[in-house]
Amino acid sequence: MKQIQFSRTGGSEVLELVEVATPEPGAGEVRVANQAIGLNFIDIYFRTGLYPTAVMPSGLGTEGAGVVDAIGEGVTHLKVGDRVAYAQAPLGAYAEQHVMPAEKVVRLPDSIDFDTAAGCMLKGLTVQYLLRQTYPLKGGETILFHAAAGGVGSLACQWAKALGVRLIGTVSSAEKAEIAMRNGAWATIDYTREDVVERVRELTGGEMVDVVYDSVGKDTWLTSLDCLKKRGLMVSFGNASGPVEGVNLGILNQKGSLFATRPSLAGYADTRERFEAMAEELFDMLASGKLKVDVSQRFSLAEAGKAQDAVAGRQTTGSTILLP
Ligand SMILES: NC(=O)c1ccc[n+]([C@@H]2O[C@H](COP(=O)([O-])OP(=O)(O)OC[C@H]3O[C@@H](n4cnc5c(N)ncnc54)[C@H](OP(=O)(O)O)[C@@H]3O)[C@@H](O)[C@H]2O)c1
Repeated sequence: MKQIQFSRTGGSEVLELVEVATPEPGAGEVRVANQAIGLNFIDIYFRTGLYPTAVMPSGLGTEGAGVVDAIGEGVTHLKVGDRVAYAQAPLGAYAEQHVMPAEKVVRLPDSIDFDTAAGCMLKGLTVQYLLRQTYPLKGGETILFHAAAGGVGSLACQWAKALGVRLIGTVSSAEKAEIAMRNGAWATIDYTREDVVERVRELTGGEMVDVVYDSVGKDTWLTSLDCLKKRGLMVSFGNASGPVEGVNLGILNQKGSLFATRPSLAGYADTRERFEAMAEELFDMLASGKLKVDVSQRFSLAEAGKAQDAVAGRQTTGSTILLP
């Protein structure tokens, strides 16, 4: 089978399409013949070396959707031929087939096609925990969400709207602002020409926001803290501009007795029960039509590097998938 591998960290040129032996599932594992593969910013962190890989050469990618084509001993909830999706596989989803623990795989409702599933498993489960668990939004709150026209951001705009939450989204262009508004953002701020803190102050009548969801990291950390109400929650959940480092805890006191958390999907979908409950809620949101997945970019598996450059270069909106 064909798989994307890299044997050193670096730019997208380190990614190679190679021919490898088709892996066999062990006990408790399944093999999925991928029909669509999700591309996520975390894949770029592994490729550049920001996040370490267990082995080298390494596969890449943790998300996909397809059909179970082999099953290991002791797997009871899946069978060969099932349509499935996954978001937390071991690195290696950028491939025609991928083996992973069966407990990380859910059966896909017939109404959800493979492209949609690959476009929303990781990103949609992330939005589920961010809006419903990290800060259980009830409706009526005002939140700031960075990268609002991106993959995670596009789903967050829609989910916030469905919850009755006013989402202020940051974006880098007028086109991205339009996309975020179409997805249900309450307002947008183009950070390339507007002062984010001042605009948040204006939009909230000086109140500021209850929660900031910040996946940009280094560049926006301080701005984000300044957008919060007293005792507000800073959710730092990504490093698109580099990691937040060297934080003096006293800053949370200075900026208004703030709370801060650095969550990940792995920390929330950490048991089979929690993963299934989160996936069920995501699938219900899709079935109800409250959530639509905008797969705006499709690349072939061989073009994984080009696809990553587009995402890292802020050229994409919505979700990006690879087709094996
Ligand atoms: N912790 C978790 O559980 C978790 C799970 C999933 C994703 N994430 C994080 O969520 C973020 C979004 O992921 P995604 O896959 O959906 O990507 P994405 O939002 O589609 O793409 C990243 C967006 O970030 C914005 N951005 C701001 N500064 C940037 C910079 N210096 N370099 C590149 N982009 C920059 C860009 O939007 P503008 O042009 O509008 O600025 C860009 O389009 C990532 O940071 C990712 O690590 C975290």
